Amino acid sequence: MKDRRVIVKVPASTANLGPGFDTLGMALSLYGWIEMSIPESGETTFAFYGDGMDSLPRDKSNLLFKVAQLVFQEAGVSVPELAISMYSDVPLARGLGSSASAIVGALVAANELIGSPLSKHKLFQIATELEGHPDNVGASLFGGIVVSAWDGSEAHYARIEPHERLETLVAIPAFQLATEKARHALPSTVSMADAVFNVGRSSLLVAALASGELELIRHAMKDRLHQPYRAALIPGMAEILERAADYGALGAALSGAGPTLIAFVDGASGEKKAALAEFLKSTLAKEGIQAETLWLSPCSSGAEATVEEWDGSASGGARLTLMDRIKGEVRA
Ligand code: HSE
Repeated sequence: MKDRRVIVKVPASTANLGPGFDTLGMALSLYGWIEMSIPESGETTFAFYGDGMDSLPRDKSNLLFKVAQLVFQEAGVSVPELAISMYSDVPLARGLGSSASAIVGALVAANELIGSPLSKHKLFQIATELEGHPDNVGASLFGGIVVSAWDGSEAHYARIEPHERLETLVAIPAFQLATEKARHALPSTVSMADAVFNVGRSSLLVAALASGELELIRHAMKDRLHQPYRAALIPGMAEILERAADYGALGAALSGAGPTLIAFVDGASGEKKAALAEFLKSTLAKEGIQAETLWLSPCSSGAEATVEEWDGSASGGARLTLMDRIKGEVRA
């Protein structure tokens, strides 16, 4: 274990997909990387690369460190000191599952570091408990489209392979929105009519994604449980959800708790792609919101670990940093 180094590549995710509040998630082709090893110095160290990482704690209160310790505890082993590095292309607090990807990456890395005693099912349970809902963590862990249900003690899931023509366009506003704030905007009870509305749309959406009937997404990607209440937090959102289909989208939704908006597109109908991106950007700009648009594919694979045994002789005796190892793969 001492000379073992684990690098986990973990995808971002979009949650809810409109009607599937706290239930549906899909992994996206935007990634973070977490490296874990036993420090040669015997002291815990952190190296963070990328935007927004400066504010992360570099002591044992760090989330990645604490998550790793949960794995060790569960497995009954003691690994008191860790060397942890992270780089992520997943923007923080934008509704693309940055915290879920960090949690999943740390769980998988810690588990691999000690020889994988915990099953993926167990890691899913721990991740769900930590996040408080299974949608983002399920997608980051298993990849593809993940349908999950959690009763507060056990999470179950089924995975759907994304259709090969399914593509997504995300508009990522420049501002952050804390999930907690976006959850506070929600009512504590809803009407039977709204519940029935969502059960129908969510069920139809899952069936459409599973059967490949992409045209049904247009009728299914509608929600009355969370998006209407969150609309005030994201000016321009209501117009985008209502009119994205006019620009060729199969459907559009708030990504997770927002503020990112996501449009689903049939990749075979390419002609309106630029117009859709322009519509999303300009609708947000009208409200004074700068946004970056990105075309992302559904990502079929979940968190993937590479394990390296280090004998001190590789690279002339010097270890490559995480950034050296992943350059060429990162967006920056
Ligand atoms: N399902 C969660 C929500 C996702 O919408 O609050 C948060 O990332």
